[in-house]
Amino acid sequence: MSLPDKGRDIDELMAEIAGLREGDLPVRGGKVTAYVYDTGRPEVHEAATRAYVEMLEVNTLDPTAFPSVVEMERQVVGAVAELLGGGTGIFTSGGTESIMLAVKAARDFRRVAGRPRMVVPVTAHPAFHKAAHYLGVAVDAVPVDPVTFRADAAAVEAAITGDTVLVVVSAPSYPQGVIDPVGPIAGIAAARGVPCHVDACVGGWLLPWLREAGARIPPFDLSVPGVTSLSCDLHKFGYSPKGASVVLFADPAMRRRAYFASASWPGYTVINATVQSSKSAGPLGGAWATLQSLGREGYLELGRTTLAATRRLREGLARIPGLRVLGDPESSLVAFTSDEADVFVLSDEARRRGWFLQPQLSYAGIPANIHITVTGVTLRGVDAMLEVIAESAAAARERGPVELPEGLVELVAGLELEALDDAAFGELAAAVGVDLGGSGQPEMAVVNAVLDALPADRREAVLIRFLSVIYG
Ligand SMILES: Cc1ncc(COP(=O)(O)O)c(C=O)c1O
Repeated sequence: MSLPDKGRDIDELMAEIAGLREGDLPVRGGKVTAYVYDTGRPEVHEAATRAYVEMLEVNTLDPTAFPSVVEMERQVVGAVAELLGGGTGIFTSGGTESIMLAVKAARDFRRVAGRPRMVVPVTAHPAFHKAAHYLGVAVDAVPVDPVTFRADAAAVEAAITGDTVLVVVSAPSYPQGVIDPVGPIAGIAAARGVPCHVDACVGGWLLPWLREAGARIPPFDLSVPGVTSLSCDLHKFGYSPKGASVVLFADPAMRRRAYFASASWPGYTVINATVQSSKSAGPLGGAWATLQSLGREGYLELGRTTLAATRRLREGLARIPGLRVLGDPESSLVAFTSDEADVFVLSDEARRRGWFLQPQLSYAGIPANIHITVTGVTLRGVDAMLEVIAESAAAARERGPVELPEGLVELVAGLELEALDDAAFGELAAAVGVDLGGSGQPEMAVVNAVLDALPADRREAVLIRFLSVIYG
């Protein structure tokens, strides 16, 4: 974009945005089974939008200048604490920021002699690796049970050292939607004097409603002895607009370790509860209004439909030849794999039919699979979704697995990426049929198959280059 000489008319701008969005996946309707959470209730969306806009220009930087922020945050955090076992908290921009603050708090709360370390099951979200990377904490990754995909308490215990500042469990972990043994692992951590964080970014505002709707959900929140902090994203199953999460701490002294203040400059005094400093109160307003607009009844009803849709999906998947669900998820996140059809091809076939089903690469002995996040709106379209999955699986079986050009994986694995500039990388990708500059719906199966064949560190290097190329 070049800055226009003269300011432009709003209608023209909105038309241009609509044009830009033509290639986007739809954010409502349930055909995109990741990234977006739709209540299917326009009035809730309307309430959130209006509150978001009302708070848009309020800056949360200085709570004394904008007391509305303090009151709204106290109410939102209070609602989360009430549902999830108490504690004090912070409203953040998302799961990653909540996790970042939990790791910072643990690092600064439990002082250790050596480099601080944390024990993280392999199924935990990469936000922990990101936090570790940013905060100088070392990660001790531990395996999960190969059948249930739940964290292995004995492996966690064996990985704790004198320098461990945090043990992590997920409720549920994203990849297979299963809940780690929170009680046993939090107990082990407590016995060693180590804080334990429950990543309930997905489950915090989902599992209680599923439980009330009849699902069997083990205890996972701050009421479990040994759990010291918990993250719960309202922009997931809270159905709030993006930029909304809460991190809770059992001990207010630990929350204070998440805060940051600086008076070491001649400007205004900086006191931050979050990583971001100046930021819009829009997401807070949106979350507050969504909670108020749905209320207990609304969330329980969404929980009921989510549970019904998940059951229907799992029964339907069991009837499609060659597909099998990974583990036995208690939540509404369902991953399935196939020994007969290439799941990456299946995902592309579904995309061609108007549905986005999220592919997941193989990792730590867990096969490549397709991930579906069932939400409140899924039930209406679950039969259509199953039909598309069945058709796509049949098409994928017919097409066979992706055939990669001979030597491609070895070539990518051995690439001296640092010696290639972005243009050369883009040309190389184009030479093997992957158009990184292209628009529309890419054939992702080739990209996924190449990534799947690489070790994690090579995947990461290639993905960073990919990002650099697409942003140009
Ligand atoms: C279990 C879990 N934790 C953390 C996150 C990170 O959340 P965010 O994308 O809001 O930063 C996610 C995102 O999907 C998640 O599933």
